Amino acid sequence: MKQVQRFLAGISLVLALPLSAGEGMWIPSLLGQLNQAEMGQMGFRLTAEDIYSLNHSSMKDAVVLFGRGCTGEIVSSEGLLLTNHHCGLGQVQQHSSVEHDYLTHGFWAMSREEELPNPGLSVSLLKYMEDVTDRVLADIPEGAKEKERMEIIEGHIRDIVKEATKDTHYEAEVRPFYYGNTWYLFVTEVFRDVRLVGAPPSSIGKFGGDTDNWMWPRHTGDFAVFRIYASPENKPAAYAKENVPYTPAHHFPVSISGIREGDFTLVFGYPGSTEQFITSDAVRLTTEVHNPIAIEARRIRLDLFEKHMKTDDKVRIQYTTKHARIANGWKKWIGENRGIERLGTVQVKQQQEAAFGEWVQKDPELTERYGRLLTEFKDVYARYTPATRQSTYITEAALAAEVLRLPGRFFDLIDYAAGKDATSEGLKEQGAKLWPRMASFYKDYDAATDQDVMASTLKYYWDNMSTTYVPPYLRKLYKKHRGDFQSMAAHIMGRSVFCRPGEIEAMLKSGQRKPIRALQQDPAMLIAEGFIDYHDACLLPVTEASESRLDSLYRCYVAAIMKMQPERRFYPDANLTLRVTYGQVDDYFPRDAVRYKHFTTLDGIMEKEAMGVYDYGVPERLRELHAAQDYGDYAAEDGLMHTCFTASNHTTGGNSGSPVINAEGHLIGINFDRNWEGTMSDIDYDPDQCRNISLDIRYCLFIIDVYAGARHLVEEMTVVK
Ligand code: ARG
Ligand code: ASP
Repeated sequence: MKQVQRFLAGISLVLALPLSAGEGMWIPSLLGQLNQAEMGQMGFRLTAEDIYSLNHSSMKDAVVLFGRGCTGEIVSSEGLLLTNHHCGLGQVQQHSSVEHDYLTHGFWAMSREEELPNPGLSVSLLKYMEDVTDRVLADIPEGAKEKERMEIIEGHIRDIVKEATKDTHYEAEVRPFYYGNTWYLFVTEVFRDVRLVGAPPSSIGKFGGDTDNWMWPRHTGDFAVFRIYASPENKPAAYAKENVPYTPAHHFPVSISGIREGDFTLVFGYPGSTEQFITSDAVRLTTEVHNPIAIEARRIRLDLFEKHMKTDDKVRIQYTTKHARIANGWKKWIGENRGIERLGTVQVKQQQEAAFGEWVQKDPELTERYGRLLTEFKDVYARYTPATRQSTYITEAALAAEVLRLPGRFFDLIDYAAGKDATSEGLKEQGAKLWPRMASFYKDYDAATDQDVMASTLKYYWDNMSTTYVPPYLRKLYKKHRGDFQSMAAHIMGRSVFCRPGEIEAMLKSGQRKPIRALQQDPAMLIAEGFIDYHDACLLPVTEASESRLDSLYRCYVAAIMKMQPERRFYPDANLTLRVTYGQVDDYFPRDAVRYKHFTTLDGIMEKEAMGVYDYGVPERLRELHAAQDYGDYAAEDGLMHTCFTASNHTTGGNSGSPVINAEGHLIGINFDRNWEGTMSDIDYDPDQCRNISLDIRYCLFIIDVYAGARHLVEEMTVVK
């Protein structure tokens, strides 16, 4: 039944019905009349100009791209920044040791002096954006080859960026939308002195861990506090003691007046990537090839990480971030596959493709232009799919052991050492560049864990792929050890210099050729290089050629769909550029007879703790505050401490840490996840089931103020009741 309805919905899109409520990631500078009207109807009291303005300060001046793939928001006139705990996790971990275990106990800077610098972390603020499509696409000859086209485009982009940053401290980039049908310039200010101010203990910030990840009902206090520092002139500056807190053009007032079902919610942030336009074959590539392999291979790694993390505290700290990253994809893909199956996305897309084919057939001019598109897609996916299958086995299994990822870092050095012109000075210089990266790798490396991972993932690869490709050295080992992967892994790790940090350090600092040359016979090198060479020689040419072809096919396809559905409202796929999505606080019905309310409370944390599951530990102090109902100013009208809530905003990876803003433009939550039933939204958005999950800002303030006693931070904010 569902499928028939969805098919009709697909067809009716052809007849130009609007998008379903909640769907859409809009470009902030382009919020049109329709968006405005829609937001107004949903309860928004402000205007598009309040969200993004070139003429005066607006919300966009308080939203940052945090690090490489999260969002953060500024909440005080002194550069105080909120994001998710899982976004700041790397920083919290970097500052942690068994003695100062901020992961377990949390961290709170009680004065500015105690705020901790984070080399490598940056946040960027958008100054302005501009449609530069005409300039980027100028002078491309009709029928230009993809390569020629790209060269012309890159040339134009260089000019545009140069012009936009000339005589300024700004940075700029030009990014494609709709597969390169449209191009935008983004001019940003990038701040590189961003200090850690506070983080709750993991038992709050990661409450529920991977058990609850991607799920509702959720009780995670997923926030961390940072501060942006700038030069005394309020400009971006490298870390320096003399830097001062940044004064933003705008900061979000924080509302503790509560969240009710149906309330308007705006999520403003940096969604990373979505694929709404892909064909049915592409969906199958994801759900039938990539996801199942990656899910299985990652489960193997996760089980072994968990085994070692449970018995060794040092390993627990070393592997926290790695475990979270691997588990996150693993669980998301499971949910994505279920959602796509449930929606019948493949069948729906096939029907839409058939409708597209019919439309194209109706008009000779269209047939001339688009008549071959669908067959070409088919041809490309017929080549791309098996290559992707193989490369997924290589990246997710063959090269899953960490030590097998190291040799690749040495290729340049080995080449250099083999050259005639290599000097001892040159070797030292290159070695000095490589060593810091290696040192930070070893800090979080546990050889015993990795050996287990190597044995099991190589076996998994072998079991599935031994007839396709195995490096000769691995085949030899297999024979010698009679297929015992444990003993093969022990052999490799026992003999590989990559497992001996001291020797690697000495080698990199010595300026000598010999030990570097000897790397070529290292067992880890022989295996890694075998896979990498095979990948680069046999798979990469296919995947690269396919991807480049797909780019131009999709460019054409999306342009055609826009022509076919002139009244449909389009929004571009996410591409880690700033977007607005709006929706409402909303419950949902995951299955027959079950309704999920739109909010959770601290009571639920205690309920979960009583279940005795590993991920549900609660700090003593939180238990006491709950028993005493000591919630400061932050209890809801019902007297309870509300923790998280769901809404119908269309979000994806990268939206983590995004501000959730109410009708008045005040901060009511921090976005951090989606529900499992809705993780297919990157490909197929279902308004019935897709919900974003946010931290209730009152729980965040309660933890900072009452739990941690860092009231000075709340006092810095503009709190409105
Ligand atoms: N699923 C969320 C997002 O994709 C949170 C991930 C972090 N949490 C975790 N338990 N791994 O980023
Ligand atoms: N948890 C995701 C993030 O880190 C958000 C999502 O995928 O919904 O960006």
